[in-house]
Amino acid sequence: MFRRSWLLSASTLFVLGALAPLSACKKAASSGHAGTKEDPFVIGMSQCNLGEPWRVQMNEDLKNAAAKHPELKVVFKDAQNDSLTQRTQVEELVNQGIDLLVISPKEAAPLTKPVAEAYKKGIPVIVLDRAVEGDQFTTFIGGDNKKIGREAGKWVAKLLGAAGGNVVELEGLMTSTPGQDRHAGFLEGLDLAKNTGIKIVFTADMQWLEPNARKEMASALATNPKIDVVYAHNDPGAHGAYLAAKEAGREATIKFVGIDALPHEGVKYVKDSLLHATFTYPTGGAEAIDVALKLLKKEQVQKKIVLGTKSWTRENVAKGGEEIP
Ligand code: FRU
Repeated sequence: MFRRSWLLSASTLFVLGALAPLSACKKAASSGHAGTKEDPFVIGMSQCNLGEPWRVQMNEDLKNAAAKHPELKVVFKDAQNDSLTQRTQVEELVNQGIDLLVISPKEAAPLTKPVAEAYKKGIPVIVLDRAVEGDQFTTFIGGDNKKIGREAGKWVAKLLGAAGGNVVELEGLMTSTPGQDRHAGFLEGLDLAKNTGIKIVFTADMQWLEPNARKEMASALATNPKIDVVYAHNDPGAHGAYLAAKEAGREATIKFVGIDALPHEGVKYVKDSLLHATFTYPTGGAEAIDVALKLLKKEQVQKKIVLGTKSWTRENVAKGGEEIP
């Protein structure tokens, strides 16, 4: 309850960017749906995968928000972590005559064209969480990954202090925009030019997947006798790293930081003292439905809607985390 209302207020607070051109919304009801209970607007939702709890939550958030509006029907597609499948599914949705497309793309480059094609046909397109290239979509909704990475970097720099230390970075899929931004932001926050005692001793792309993170961390442990902090681009990655360290009997000497902060995943890991910190990455599911309603009513919306974040650490977790302005 608290989380949901916080996200909604965050979305209104962090609205940035130019207004999307009205032309993008012109043919919102091109398939002819009336937008009534009997003949609802059909929203096609292309989800890149449902392998991680965070994506299951995103779909739930969309579903729950849409359930409050009988004039909406949402059709879900799961691309099972395959960009080509996702591309085909977007094309199928468009051919089925949806009124609006919501997409959380696996990777930017391969999904840019199908998204642009839907948009050029006059279907309003909401891109959620991971971006596509260019500007051929109606609006983007998502967290500020650069900022979250920067906050994680500042947190690690402060934790290691003047003595510095050895850091492992387990990256999310680097062909997806959150992976790129969480890495760039982290480097900014670490400020290696100033904090010369900090060394990144191992970096690997674990593609957002816990089993990959576990494997990569086993290699990091084998080649590095001293690791002080692991920064993983998501909580499944941080948890995979923790499990590898535990297997090697080294979990007590390493601090683990992740991103996502789902109540039953990352936040619980912090409460259970597995992770030292995590940062909220809102799904944007509820906000997407709010925006979809506006677009279907042919109202203008911002081209980019940026959602807020919170830190969850061992110090603040009992108080419900801390908002980051
Ligand atoms: C789920 C996920 C999240 C992450 C997001 C980034 O697939 O990996 O853990 O925050 O995608 O797009």
